[in-house]
Amino acid sequence: MPALLVTGGAGYVGSHTVMAMLEQPDFEYEIVVVDNLSNAYRAEGDKKPVALLRIEEMTGKTIQFYEVDIRDKQGLNEVFGKHDVHCVVHFAALKAVGESVEKPLEYCQANITGTCTLFEVMRDHRVYNLIYSSSCTVYGEPERLPLDEEHPTGRGISSPYGRTKYFCEEIMKDLCASDPKWKIISLRYFNPVGAHPSGRIGEDPNGIPNNLMPFIAQVAVGRLPELKVFGTDYPTIDGTGVRDYIHVVDLADGHVKALQLFHRNEFSGFCPINLGTGTGYSVYQVVAAFEAASGRRVAAARAPRRAGDLAANWAAPAAAARLLAWRAARSLRDMCADAWRWQSANPDGYRG
Ligand code: UFG
Repeated sequence: MPALLVTGGAGYVGSHTVMAMLEQPDFEYEIVVVDNLSNAYRAEGDKKPVALLRIEEMTGKTIQFYEVDIRDKQGLNEVFGKHDVHCVVHFAALKAVGESVEKPLEYCQANITGTCTLFEVMRDHRVYNLIYSSSCTVYGEPERLPLDEEHPTGRGISSPYGRTKYFCEEIMKDLCASDPKWKIISLRYFNPVGAHPSGRIGEDPNGIPNNLMPFIAQVAVGRLPELKVFGTDYPTIDGTGVRDYIHVVDLADGHVKALQLFHRNEFSGFCPINLGTGTGYSVYQVVAAFEAASGRRVAAARAPRRAGDLAANWAAPAAAARLLAWRAARSLRDMCADAWRWQSANPDGYRG
């Protein structure tokens, strides 16, 4: 049976993508997850992380799991030796913007060295199909909005994390130029939020969340006292930062559609595609939507701007519609309702 290898498949976007793949009635791959568990939880005595066990329970399908770090070439070689890998979906990476400022070398190691090691092993095993987990951060400070794929990348990126995503895209362009067998779809995510509507898988950040939606969810559930609104003097609708929030299930569906693009054989080389809704919402709009969805009050206090934050960004999603026949279908209300269902059913995440 052909295999789809998913690095970082136990993480937030990775687990939702595994779920979306296995929910396809005619899905013809076995799913092989490689994850070092740096941001995923496995209970003592279990063979697999909780997120994957829950997906198996919900879908009735089996996931192959290997606790391997992508910098471990030998470990990766063994996994590729055991399965007939046709395509790789590469999520494994460190992703905390603030932490990346403190630990730039760790971010280079995990995100760049790890990615190059994975590519070496792919080449050695003649696997050339890749879906890469990229970010709108590669666009840096926007020159124009909405952000389309023609917008320049690499200028004015405000964090080492963001630069690792940009550098990996440049490396992938070089790879594609070196050998036409490579086919790489780089999915540039806007702001993934929400959870699977079952409430059984969701975002489970280590420690205090850096991102807006999980922070709000933890305030609503009583784990954190109040939200600090970073900047209320931006030139936006109400002074707070505006982002293109996208439901993680829509995002996961984008990966399912990207996999289908390999089958249709309609592209070659490096293909960047935005995954966003095309609509931006402010921090206060998200807070109001979350209060409405949860019926809880979310205390919010004004705070200074956070270093490196943009005033606003949102996607031009036309390329995804054209190339993948994909469009985000879920509203801000759905994102909040599903994030709340996950958070209220699992107040302590997967450890609960
Ligand atoms: N915000 C707050 N308070 C918080 C957290 C966030 O007010 O406690 C605000 C931010 O200032 C911003 C908005 O909420 O205006 C969204 O912030 P997030 O941290 O959720 O998301 P970012 O847009 O800052 O970061 C996201 C991804 C990063 C990526 C970046 C690129 O999480 O991986 O987009 O633009 F690098």
